[in-house]
Amino acid sequence: MLTGHPPATGAPHLLDLLGRSPVAFVDTPLPHPHGGFHAKVEYLNPGGMKARAAVAMLQAARQRGDLRPGATVVESTSGTLGIGLAFAGQALGHPVILVVDREIERPMRALLTAYGATVVEVEQPHPVGGWQQARLDRLAEVLARVPDAYWPDQYHNPDNATGYRTLAAELTGQVEAVDVLVCSVGTGGHSAGLARALRRHWPDMRLVGVDTVGSTIFGQPARPRLMRGLGSSIFPRNVDYAAFDEVHWVGPVEAVDTCRRLARSAFVTGGWSTGAVARVAAWTSRMQPGARVVTIFPDGPHRYLDSIFDDAFCATHGLFAPAPGHPIEIPYPNAVEVTRWSRCRTVLDPLCRVAVPA
Ligand SMILES: Cc1ncc(COP(=O)(O)O)c(C=O)c1O
Repeated sequence: MLTGHPPATGAPHLLDLLGRSPVAFVDTPLPHPHGGFHAKVEYLNPGGMKARAAVAMLQAARQRGDLRPGATVVESTSGTLGIGLAFAGQALGHPVILVVDREIERPMRALLTAYGATVVEVEQPHPVGGWQQARLDRLAEVLARVPDAYWPDQYHNPDNATGYRTLAAELTGQVEAVDVLVCSVGTGGHSAGLARALRRHWPDMRLVGVDTVGSTIFGQPARPRLMRGLGSSIFPRNVDYAAFDEVHWVGPVEAVDTCRRLARSAFVTGGWSTGAVARVAAWTSRMQPGARVVTIFPDGPHRYLDSIFDDAFCATHGLFAPAPGHPIEIPYPNAVEVTRWSRCRTVLDPLCRVAVPA
């Protein structure tokens, strides 16, 4: 087991593998031609984008004394943070227990187990809070029975956002400037951390949030969601509502179309969140010629071979329907229930919402 200290041989430590992911310039039509955008290809990190958050949360907890040496880390995850925690746990010497749900992709579940994490699976969604609440309820049971267990609480832990300082620092050396940053939003960690750090360099940078239809984060009603990674059925406190200039909700039809187009002609592709942010980044670049648009591709395609890239899955779920090339504009986040790609230029925290016209 690695201890969190560089080995005496002078060989690189596991943590040294993290970061320095490349940036790709994407100008393939999605589906319309556009001026191109830069994408930070985070799946070339071990553990994908969320390994940055995982390492930051565990290191900060160790420094505070909340996570004792060798103690177990327990977290609820739909996947990507799980891989990140498996990585951080090995690098820093902590066993990892992950509470997942039945909907987790098979390759992801297999990977979590292969990396040595103990996987606890929830069978039924919570009647109101969906899978996420069901996972949190089970997590509380696990925490109560494992001595010294530490819960990073990715949805509400500010160290999650701090973990993306390294990503921001890398970007500042990789792109000329960022006029518009397009970020998927799940826990809110990377959008919050990146906006804070990058606006120190580019104070006028606009932040575009990308959520999924059926997610509560920006004030829509909770509905069953096919898209994983981005979106939520709770209200994560890591979401920095004030930082956003606009929000888009993207549907699975648009995401599948985009992921497949990217794979065919740009080679870099990924999962639901990658498809969603690429669609919005391409549209933004088309609508604002000359703007330097940057986005983050959080993970790669491998976890989605049985869903996004599987013809039978897509046919069963009606995902080969024509994919819209433009969003519907809505005046307020809760003006209507959105069922396909939609955009709103007013962003409100649903937990502090002031009355808005019906
Ligand atoms: C694949 C994927 N994309 C996007 C996100 C959203 O990122 P964040 O949690 O930083 O908002 C996540 C979060 O878990 C994810 O796993």
